[in-house]
Amino acid sequence: MDCDVRVYNPQGRESKSGPSCSGVKVCEDFWSPQLHIYVPSFPKCVISLLLQIPDDKGYKLDLFCVPKHYEEDLDQVIIPHGLIMDRTERLARDIVRDMGGHHIVALCVLKGGYTFFADLLDYIKTLNQNSDKSVPLTVDFIRLKSYCNDQSTNIVKVIGGDELSTLTGKNVLIVEDIVETGRTMETLLSLLSDCNPKMVKVVSLLVKRTPRSSGYRPEYIGFEVPDSFLVGYALDYNEYFRDLSHICILNENAKEKYKV
Ligand code: PRP
Repeated sequence: MDCDVRVYNPQGRESKSGPSCSGVKVCEDFWSPQLHIYVPSFPKCVISLLLQIPDDKGYKLDLFCVPKHYEEDLDQVIIPHGLIMDRTERLARDIVRDMGGHHIVALCVLKGGYTFFADLLDYIKTLNQNSDKSVPLTVDFIRLKSYCNDQSTNIVKVIGGDELSTLTGKNVLIVEDIVETGRTMETLLSLLSDCNPKMVKVVSLLVKRTPRSSGYRPEYIGFEVPDSFLVGYALDYNEYFRDLSHICILNENAKEKYKV
């Protein structure tokens, strides 16, 4: 049996890969146990489920429909809306498979998470309506903020949302748009742990390949993306570009144009 074996360190650089899985071990100093599944007949084999967008991958804007008011501001489309939806559908299936049977509180991290949250929950609702196994869902919201222009301020502020204490004893699914340094999610997980939830899992549509990463990785990842400033599908630059359907790379002129 052949399988594509990839083991990654926290910065997303590939440490080992090859067409055959025989003899490849999971080493203590390699990150990402959540993303690897063990194949029973090959106990030492791991298969990465990571969907990586390569650094040089992108589509010309003219190939897609982009709002006129943003045409000058974007370099490339890197994840078209249709692909986001297809991947989200699969994430919904994986989450229901793993958490099904329990009541889930889906916690949306605002503002960037709102579109992914809405689409993911729609797919989970569709699964609930069409299978023998279903999972009751309730929703909560929290608003966190740490970015100004294209830089993290290194301070994660909680600027609104529901009381986290209501999550005590619950199975919580945190829904986030992007993990970059990991600081936002580590802050939220630490706040949540004070409330003693029964279980916490995190799904992030995007995880950035960046040397600024703390090494934190969510349980479910939609795409691993290059270290460029990304906007669209609710990801913003100083509040602009949330009204763009595709995930795109922002150009340098736009960073200056919308700077605060
Ligand atoms: C963005 C994004 C994540 C966070 C990730 O939020 O929505 O929450 O940054 O970055 P990190 O991993 O480096 O902490 P932002 O502060 O821009 O607020 P927003 O969601 O309102 O856009």
